[in-house]
Formats: sequence, C-alpha cells, structure tokens
Amino acid sequence: MSVANPLPHDAAHLHVTGAARYVDDIPTPPGTLHLAFGLSTVARGTIASMDLAAVRAAPGVIDVLTAGDLPHANDVSPSNHDEPLLADGSVHYAGQPLFLVVATSHLAARHAARLGTVEIVHQTPILTIDEALAADSRFEDGPRIYAKGCAATALPHAKNRLSGSLEIGGQEHFYLEGQAAMALPGEDGDVTVHSSTQHPTEIQHKVAEAIGKPMHAVRVETRRMGGGFGGKESQGNALAVACAVVATRHGKPVKMRYDRDDDMIITGKRHDFRITYDVGFDDAGRITALDVTHYARCGWAMDLSLPVADRAMLHADNAYLIENMTITSHRLKTNTQSATAFRGFGGPQGIVGMERVIEHIAHHLGCDPWEVRRANFYADLMASAPVPEGTTQVAPADADVASRGAQGDVPTDSAQAPDGVQTTPYHQPVTDCIINALTQRLRDSADYDARRRAVADWNAANPILKRGIALTPVKFGISFTLTHLNQAGALVHVYQDGSIHLNHGGTEMGQGLFQKVAQVAASRFGVPVNAVKITATDTGKVPNTSATAASSGSDLNGMAVLDACDRIRARIAACLLPDTPDAVRFEGGRVIAGDADHSFAEAAQIAYQNRVSLSATGFYKTPDIQWDRIAGRGRPFFYFAYGAAVSEVVIDTLTGENRILRTDLLHDAGASLNPALDVGQVEGGFVQGAGWLTTEELVWDDAGTLKTHAPATYKIPACSDRPDVFNVALWDQPNPARTIYRSKAVGEPPFMLGISVWAALNDAVRACGPVFPDLQAPATAEEVLAAVGRARG
Ligand code: MTE
Ligand code: MOS
Repeated sequence: MSVANPLPHDAAHLHVTGAARYVDDIPTPPGTLHLAFGLSTVARGTIASMDLAAVRAAPGVIDVLTAGDLPHANDVSPSNHDEPLLADGSVHYAGQPLFLVVATSHLAARHAARLGTVEIVHQTPILTIDEALAADSRFEDGPRIYAKGCAATALPHAKNRLSGSLEIGGQEHFYLEGQAAMALPGEDGDVTVHSSTQHPTEIQHKVAEAIGKPMHAVRVETRRMGGGFGGKESQGNALAVACAVVATRHGKPVKMRYDRDDDMIITGKRHDFRITYDVGFDDAGRITALDVTHYARCGWAMDLSLPVADRAMLHADNAYLIENMTITSHRLKTNTQSATAFRGFGGPQGIVGMERVIEHIAHHLGCDPWEVRRANFYADLMASAPVPEGTTQVAPADADVASRGAQGDVPTDSAQAPDGVQTTPYHQPVTDCIINALTQRLRDSADYDARRRAVADWNAANPILKRGIALTPVKFGISFTLTHLNQAGALVHVYQDGSIHLNHGGTEMGQGLFQKVAQVAASRFGVPVNAVKITATDTGKVPNTSATAASSGSDLNGMAVLDACDRIRARIAACLLPDTPDAVRFEGGRVIAGDADHSFAEAAQIAYQNRVSLSATGFYKTPDIQWDRIAGRGRPFFYFAYGAAVSEVVIDTLTGENRILRTDLLHDAGASLNPALDVGQVEGGFVQGAGWLTTEELVWDDAGTLKTHAPATYKIPACSDRPDVFNVALWDQPNPARTIYRSKAVGEPPFMLGISVWAALNDAVRACGPVFPDLQAPATAEEVLAAVGRARG
C-alpha cells in the first residue's frame, strides 16, 4: 500500500542536484524579450508627468509601456479590481509599478527601468495603524464583529480583569525562488504562460482579461514553485499579465522575474496587526469574558485581506472555550505593499493575540501559563462520545472508508452535534478536540514539569542568562472560508502498458502534494508509486481550480484523484468480471478477477482491447460546510487540526540575544498520507513561525519606503537557529472526519507551533523582574532587551 509510506519527496533528488526545473530554468527560445517595472519611490501622490526618453534610449530597450498602452484590462487584483498593473494617474505605495520596460535581456531591462524621470505631486501617506484609524481609511464600511454570549455584560462581573495591547509584525515570504513568469505567443492570439503560482486558474483569468480573450485562449502551466507560502496566491498575477500582454503585442516569447530587492519592495507580505483585549477571569485563570479587537494593516489594495482578517477572527479563541467573547476586526487601508496570504492566512495573528491574553493572566495570578491554558481548553469529547460505525478508529489505509467518504454517505459527527455542545465564538461545534490528550502526551515526552523546575533553579542561580520554557497549543480550522473554493478536479489516464498519467488542480511548492496524491493513485490501482507519472499543473487539463492554499491541497485533490481512479477501476473490473465487478481486487501490482490473475498492465491491455475508456475525470467537494461571514455564524471548517509545542530558550539580559535550546513538537496530521513529508512540514512550519516572532522584522521609514528588502537587513532563521535539540512527532489517530484516507491537512497548522518560542522568551523575560514585560512581536534582541528593562520596572 503506497499510502502512509514515508517516501521521499518525488523531486528530492532533483532539488538537491540543482536539476529541478523552475520557470527561470526553462530554456528560452531565441528572441525572448525580458521585462522590468519602473517603480514609484513615493508612497502616495498623483503622477504629474513621466519622462521616459532616457528609458527608451537605453541599450537593449525595445519598448516601454505605461497604463495607456495596455490594450484591455489594467488590473491584476484577485478580488476587487482595485489593483492596476501599471499606475493609472495616482500612486498608492513606494514600490508600485509605474511603467514596463521591454528589453533584449534581463539586465538591460533592469538598468533601463532606473532611468525614468517621474514627477509625482506628493500627498501625505497613510502608513501606520494609527494614521489609518485617524483618517478612517479602511476596506469595508466599518469593523466586522463576531460574538458569542455577551462579553460586555460579563466583563464587569469578572473576579479579575486585565486589558492590554500587542503589536504583531508582518513577515516577508522569502520563498527561495522569486516571482517569475514566461509567456509564449501561440497562433491567433492565444498564449501559453509558465508561472510560479499557487493559482494557475487565477493567472489564466487575469491574463485573459488583459489580452481581451476568453479563458480558453490562455493555457497556464506550473510544474513547481521554489516555495510559495501564500506569497504566490495572487502576487504572481502582475508578472504573468505583463508577459502575456507584451507577448501578444510583439509576437515574441517574454520572460519576467523579480530580483530579491524588487520582489520584497513590490509584493505583499503577512499583515501586521495590533490586538487589544479586555479579559475577565476567575482565580483559577478560567476566562469568563473576552473582548478582543484586531487592527489589520492591509496595505493599498484589497487583495485577500478580507478573508485573511476573517480567519484571524476565526482563530481568536485558539484552543480555548470562552462562553462570552466578542471579536472586532478593523481592515485598514494604508499606503504600503498590499498585504497578502501568508501561511496561516491571519490565523497566526489571531492565535498570538489569544496566547498573549493567557500570558497576561498567568502573570497576574503568578502561575505557570500552562495552568491557565489547561484550565481553558475545549474538552476532548472524542473518547467519551459514542462512536458512529466506521467514522473513527479507522486503520490509516482503510480504502473502503476513504472511498465512502468521497461519496458522502456517512454523516459527520459534528453535523449531528446535540444542543448544548461546546462551540466556538462563531458557533461551530467543536467535536473533534484532542488538545487535552495531546498536550498531556507532549508534557510527558518533553519532561515539561521537571524542566520547568530546572528553569526556575537556573534563574535563581544565574543573574545574567535567564531561561524560559513554554507549552503552547494550536487548533486550526481546515477549509477555505469562501465555501465554493472547497472543490477540486482531477484527470487520470491509464495507458495500455499499465503506466498512469496523473493530473489534478493542485500545485507543488515543496510541500510534497504531488507525491502524496501519486501515493493515493498508486494505492487505488494497487501499483507501485513509480508507475504513476506526476505532471505539471495545467489549466488545459483540469479547469476552474482553486488556489493551492488553506492547507487543503491533499484533502481536495487527493479525493478528486481517488474519484477518477475509482471510475477507471470500476470500468476495468466490469470488463474483467461483468457479473461481480466488486469482487475484483487491485493489489500488489496484480488485478485479481475470480480465477484470473493479471498484471495491472495486462488488465489495462484487456480493457483497451475491449474498447473500454481508460481515462477519467474526478471531482470532489467538501461536504457539510456552510458559513455566513457577515453574521459570523455557521460551520466554516470541515474539521480542526491540532498540535502543541514545548520550547525552552535562554536570553542574555545584557544584550537581549537569545537561543532556542530545545523544542518538542507533537502534531496531528490524522492518519498521515506520508509521515516523512508531514514531519518535514511540521519542522519547516515551526521554524518559519519562530522566525516571524523573533528575528524577522520589517521596517518602513517615515516616507513609507521599505528599508528591509534583502537578507542583509531582513533576518530569516538560518540552519544554526534551529533548536539545539529538536524532537518532532506525529499524533497517531486518524481524522474522525471523512478525509482522504483519514489524513489531516498539515501545511499551515504547524506554523503556529512557533508561538512556543515567543512564549518561552516571555517566560525568560518574566524571570527578570516583577512587572508584566509586555513583550511585543517580533521579539528581536532589541525588543527582548527592552522587555527586560520593563520587567525590572
Ligand atoms: N511547504 C513548502 N515546502 N513550501 C511552501 O511554499 N506553503 C505552505 C504549506 N507548506 C509551503 C509549504 C502553505 S501557505 C500552504 S497553504 C500549504 O503548504 C499548501 O499546500 P497543501 O495544501 O498541499 O498543504
Ligand atoms: Mo497558504 S497562506 O493558504 O497559501
């Protein structure tokens, strides 16, 4: 059985030898043209004049385009038609593309792009959250509010009450491969686009609008990305559209890639947030009421900011049951890069806000934050609830259950939740909680209690170096909150020699999706995984796809592929054993039909000889979800993924410098489709999350210019920053929801395990003095040093 095997990433050997082909590695046809944008250096204003004579005269330059030269739509927005490819009269951020240079080489285009003389009448930019609030500069008319119970009436009755405020910085994606696209003109105005994108259908859609053609004239192909992390859900649109427009204008192949500085200056990042809170709690730390407000800095265009801010609200409870909770969310429009999707999609900001509240309560009560966490967890109902037949306790590779799930004939547990069941602040029942059992196991395996005492002993004995330890939980909702996106298609061919050609709508960005889905296909046909050819994502093969995002790539595409494979399987079986096709077995590379035992290739050949179609499309849509994002009610998530982390850190109280000494992670990937890949996702997610909250700091100057636009000034974690001791394990129970082979999505949830490092730093700082240190994020060395000062009072 291929599923559940810890096979290496299908392209691992290509990655490590440098042979994996990315967009920039595709050999360019002779005569290929290269593009670069001329950028605004001003954050806000109106364009008075553009003198591009020197650009046009520069060596190698073929053409220069401004907004007026675009033949059709001037828009690369994924949502609101508010994002021109080239500035149209006004300028909204420093870094905005103003004009497009077409040249014979990448360098010639970049050199020429610096030579424009653009006169901009400056306006005062709105840069910060405070400035946006003062100017009432926002997306949507007012704040969005979700509520359960009544925090306003419960707060005054609380035994204890605290309030506070936390700034949470943004984050640059820092995918290793920058944004890139190439367009090849076809006949009759058609165009083929190679794009480093998580969302080929969106590229197809925006390119079609820009060249004034139906979507059928545009084919988009994506073999792989060198990382996306959400930064290639929408941010590749501009490059692909620019290439396609110039390819049709000049009838030549066209390529564009951003160098690292341009990539950081032009494209959107994680939203920075301010979160304020007013919390009531009893002496045991149990929260009785919480009123929390999110201020999200969204940048100049809407992009994906509304669903990102929604998801932050949907994670404002993290793993805690709070009966009276109000969440208010302001989506602020500023003259900065348009903030976009980034691993967790707002969830991490919401969860950090909640964990900060816990830390504050623990400081007030003088106890270990772990005690406050435990006091507020949602209850684990799994063990005590009656188990409907076939919905839990499923062996990891139970194919029958997986295929039943595809047809949706078993109701889910939570769809049947009785009244009075624990619910989230958005009124979704929480029936699959395992956080108590999971944290208990981690607490034991990480030896938390003994190490908590050892940390206290260390801090009592050492005045300069202080240690801290924290155990933090994660609960993360799985599904796109825009319900219609929860669908996927697949196309599977079986050739007459028994080899299998696999297509689905998901994209590969390093996460291992292609390998997991190939394992599903191999399992369905009972063949080794090398019988399955993994091919590039192609809008000509599978149409109308959703972005590979929301961690749902394998959930959705795995099921769609299963559906396609099972259709072909049923046809082969009906051909071999017409009376009892269900008795045909596909296993061990054989197809066993009654007395006959064929190799899979022989079975395919027999079907072919009998004129049976060996090609099928497959389709899947997630069942049982519905969501009203205005009312804040419904069931946005098919299920939750859980995890927990223990991190121990040491800080130097003289400099604020710090290290992670040890981290233990226990993460719930359900019945893992591939434990090797899933452990990789857990490790990578944790490190990326820890980087966000520690060393990664974005700095804009007073004019709105991003000062941190290269690794010299923007510090992502290095190999040497990983914990000295790093123990990673997967929780071993299958998903009670009917997902592909009972696995759980794993792409984003482990990112939030990195919060344990920030909480551990807070713990270490708390050891320095009696005052609540009010640690902000990111907790850079400077911030840790400042917090040490605050703790001392
Ligand atoms: N892992 C790698 N190596 N590279 C990436 O770009 N993106 C993350 C996560 N893991 C990413 C990654 C994000 S933001 C998401 S939404 C998921 O992978 C998407 O893939 P999946 O749905 O197949 O998990
Ligand atoms: Mo991931 S932020 O949903 O691309």
